[in-house]
Amino acid sequence: MATVVRDEQTTLTVTPLTGSIGARIEGVDLSRDLDQETADAIRRAFAEHAVLVFRSGRDATPEEQHRLAALSGEPQPLQVFQFLGRMQAGITFDPGSRIVASDAASAPKQSAQIKRQDLQSLGIAGEFDGWHSDSSFCHFLPKAAVLRAEVIAPVGGDTGFASLCAAYEALSPIMQGWLEDLRAVHIIPEGFKDGINLASYGADAEERFDAFFPPKEWPLVVRHPETGRKALWINPGYTAHIVGLKRAESHALIRFLARHISSTSFTYRHHWQKGDLVVWDEVFALHRAPDDFAPHERKVVRVTAGRQKPTA
Ligand SMILES: [Fe+2]
Repeated sequence: MATVVRDEQTTLTVTPLTGSIGARIEGVDLSRDLDQETADAIRRAFAEHAVLVFRSGRDATPEEQHRLAALSGEPQPLQVFQFLGRMQAGITFDPGSRIVASDAASAPKQSAQIKRQDLQSLGIAGEFDGWHSDSSFCHFLPKAAVLRAEVIAPVGGDTGFASLCAAYEALSPIMQGWLEDLRAVHIIPEGFKDGINLASYGADAEERFDAFFPPKEWPLVVRHPETGRKALWINPGYTAHIVGLKRAESHALIRFLARHISSTSFTYRHHWQKGDLVVWDEVFALHRAPDDFAPHERKVVRVTAGRQKPTA
């Protein structure tokens, strides 16, 4: 089923990719500035589907990626990188979905490029295999992230997305009611500091980082600002404790919710083609990047934009 918006110049088609998350957008020329009607239609589709796929069949440019990101606010890096002084909105992942310091002007003194074998020796290879949102311990999250694949592995290398609205709506009314007033603490997960090569930013970098990013409390159930839909705001690896519960109760609940959100009923798995641009909401959709393409290369560039604070 597709929704079609027409005016004199454009035919924009929105085709859902699953019953719970994701839609494919066709009929948009991202190589030029978008008119207001088209921009509004894309924003409406984004609010409804949380993940949008633009497939042009040709290479997508960084300019097109930025133009798409800018529909959700000013392109800017994660707050983590803003704190570290890396102000470029784009981050390159290569290989093994790890961060590469490709932006020479703002890169740390030592190269942050980490090879797959280094990651394996550190025991953190495939850290992004699991469902997550990017850095929910920060004071705010991006509104959107846009991924552009530069090198596609011949096998593997898909990106998965999970709807936290669909996950919430699948719970019983009794469970929904109980979770609604709870709050959860999000922390810097194990392996995160190595993943961004924090040590290369100076001897006191970790101390400054920990002081600026103390454990962050968010509601466990949040509401989408445009659609009003509620979502289960759980970020496996980052969500460490449910406020007010005993440790064993908290662990059991987090374990249950992390398993619940990973049901294939709430997910879309994107198989990349050259030129694809995929945008997702950093609060209402989790993502994962299976580390299943060795020994092949995979290179993707992520641009984040806008700011949001999950609210009940
Ligand atoms: Fe991520």
